[in-house]
Amino acid sequence: MKTSKIIAVGKALAQKTVTNDDLSALVDTNDQWIKSRTGIEQRRISVDESTTDLAYRASLDAMKNGNIDPNTIDMIIVATISPDSFMPSTASMLQYKLGINDRHVMAFDLNAACTGLIYGIQTAHKFIQTKTVKRALVVGAETLSRTLNWEDRSTCVLFGDGAGAVVLETSDTGIISDYTNSRGDVDMNLALPALPLRSPFTGENTCLPSWMSMNGAEIFKFATFAVKDSVDYVLNQADLDISDIKYIVPHQANERIIGKVAKVMGLPKDKFFINLMEHGNTSSASIGIALAEMMEKGLVAAGDKVILTGFGGGLTWGAILHEF
Ligand code: ACO
Repeated sequence: MKTSKIIAVGKALAQKTVTNDDLSALVDTNDQWIKSRTGIEQRRISVDESTTDLAYRASLDAMKNGNIDPNTIDMIIVATISPDSFMPSTASMLQYKLGINDRHVMAFDLNAACTGLIYGIQTAHKFIQTKTVKRALVVGAETLSRTLNWEDRSTCVLFGDGAGAVVLETSDTGIISDYTNSRGDVDMNLALPALPLRSPFTGENTCLPSWMSMNGAEIFKFATFAVKDSVDYVLNQADLDISDIKYIVPHQANERIIGKVAKVMGLPKDKFFINLMEHGNTSSASIGIALAEMMEKGLVAAGDKVILTGFGGGLTWGAILHEF
């Protein structure tokens, strides 16, 4: 059976660079605290670009890098937890911006938080394998800055805005194994409430404000488990050993999480690609941005096997083992 392959990657970062020192003017924090607890030195924050705008820029970058005509795309998936609207979807608006409204295109948004790109790639892969679509555009795009309580120092220092895009098509090589998983986070360890129930038939509105909240210690434990579980799963499924893998590209949440995972798995830290110092945590965008930067730096050659792995709200986690 044929598989699907990532044939192009692109990224877009919000225009404004916000350093840790900039944040210390807003909340009681400092560069040393943020750097030592998270590894983050700066992040990009959107001033006037929407999630759709960032998704569009990342898609154009991927199209340029892969010399791809948007008119060959027949599926668009946008993974996001910070869409511009519930309806229309970011994916449908991206279709419009790409100028392919007149094509037969399946387009929808997907919410698997920071695992969104992994869920999106896996979904596109299955549609390609069953020949429902030929070429899919999968984008992780976020303007998380709109979801943050800018008075809460424990969360507002962690996140950034951006988008990462990949194009997949049918191929003999590419995705070797894939894995997604979920566990309902009844304790709301990582949460972002949506609209409250409000109608003439509801009582008083008791909905929490629509801000990101997090139980950092619980998420740290979960993330460490999730990366190892995902990597082990895709390796077992492919009957490969970690020594066959050139890089692990994890969701870029926190350098200490990646350091802990490396230790638990007995791997050198440089097996993991890390760029969160510059961009902070961009949720569903982070893995695509990381992959795009690896391509720009020439770190991935034809034949290299790479594991993309995500973990996040939901709780969700998963991985893709891909030969480039
Ligand atoms: N600057 C200065 N002090 C701070 C800041 C800040 N930005 N944020 C919290 N503090 C303070 C707290 O108020 C607390 O003070 P107190 O002892 O006087 O009460 C102290 O620092 C310690 O707080 P903790 O929350 O225990 O800090 P911890 O060392 O656990 O670090 C962190 C917090 C970095 C979030 C950590 O829990 C962590 O790494 N968690 C992993 C989760 C993560 O990174 N999530 C990213 C998003 S989730 C995702 O992508 C899936």
